Amino acid sequence: MSVAVTVTVTVTVTVAVTVAVADPVPVPVAGAVSALIPPPAYNQPMTDTRPESTIVIDGVTLHLARPVVEIPPWIGQREVLLQLLAAWTCFSDTDVPLNPRLLGKPGVGKTTLGCAAGEELGLEIYIVQATTDTRPEDLLVTPVLAPGGGIRYMASPLVTAMIRGGVCILDEGNRMSEKSWASLAPLLDHRRTVDSIAAGITIPAAPGFRFVTTMNDDASTYELPEYIHSRLMPQIVIDFPDEDEERAILRAQVGGVEDEVLDYVLGFLQASHLADLRYSVRDGLNIARYAMKLLHRHEAADAAAAVDTALRLALGDDAEPFFIGS
Ligand SMILES: Nc1ncnc2c1ncn2[C@@H]1O[C@H](COP(=O)(O)OP(=O)(O)OP(=O)(O)O)[C@@H](O)[C@H]1O
Ligand SMILES: [Mg+2]
Repeated sequence: MSVAVTVTVTVTVTVAVTVAVADPVPVPVAGAVSALIPPPAYNQPMTDTRPESTIVIDGVTLHLARPVVEIPPWIGQREVLLQLLAAWTCFSDTDVPLNPRLLGKPGVGKTTLGCAAGEELGLEIYIVQATTDTRPEDLLVTPVLAPGGGIRYMASPLVTAMIRGGVCILDEGNRMSEKSWASLAPLLDHRRTVDSIAAGITIPAAPGFRFVTTMNDDASTYELPEYIHSRLMPQIVIDFPDEDEERAILRAQVGGVEDEVLDYVLGFLQASHLADLRYSVRDGLNIARYAMKLLHRHEAADAAAAVDTALRLALGDDAEPFFIGS
């Protein structure tokens, strides 16, 4: 097979607008309208100044997707990171990387781990969110109407990762149908290509391309057929982080979190892991953030009251056993 590939990079001229907004100030009146508090500057709309990329493959121009930016660093659990990096290693010119699947409960860090491994290798990272109705063209190339008429071919994040030699994380892979997985079968073996029916082209993966899919072990919508399963090896299982790791993650991601709030939230997470409940670091992050917002607005008397309210709003009726008893 011979494939002609030309890369074109066009720069869109834009004006970057810097929005200077002060940090939110404490509001002394309980129940004050939150809209009065300006959000932090990083939440303001920004002009995207990154260049728009296109590539021509066999005479068809593909418009490429954007990589993910702002990836949180991976904390603790070094072993699973090393397992993923080993799966992606090539030990000779003829060796190909493996396409592992990351298994674990919702919120344990599967997507973050895929991103962290890509960061460690210095590769661009692209994420595809799989759903029960993801179609093969969603995974590959989608034709859309061009602004001036005609058809424009939009490369998916997966195809963009293939072309640019980046990492593709196919999130929630077990929610996707066999038909969609089948369109990836040639990508996930020695061929490392996909066929886009919509664009009428075969797209080869660059040598740097790496693939990983994540799957929740409690929400398998589709039982994948064996020929797909056997292409998604090895299986890397991620468990809840231990208490010290959870503390480090919460501290890193909830800037300015108070020690007392941190201790209460960690107590909740550890108790829920012991009881084999599904609450994860993500729940802990949300509860700690909400408790801190309540304290910031003087809407809770102290850290215990703030965490109790955050627990009640996050967990509903299931929150009671975890109340701190403010
Ligand atoms: N070891 C870790 N290091 C850094 N952040 C972590 C770690 N584990 C979890 N997190 C944080 O927890 C949150 C949830 O992680 P992530 O989205 O990767 O989970 P997930 O397993 O992919 O969840 P889902 O199954 O819902 O897609 C994120 O904010 C992530 O940064
Ligand atoms: Mg995920």
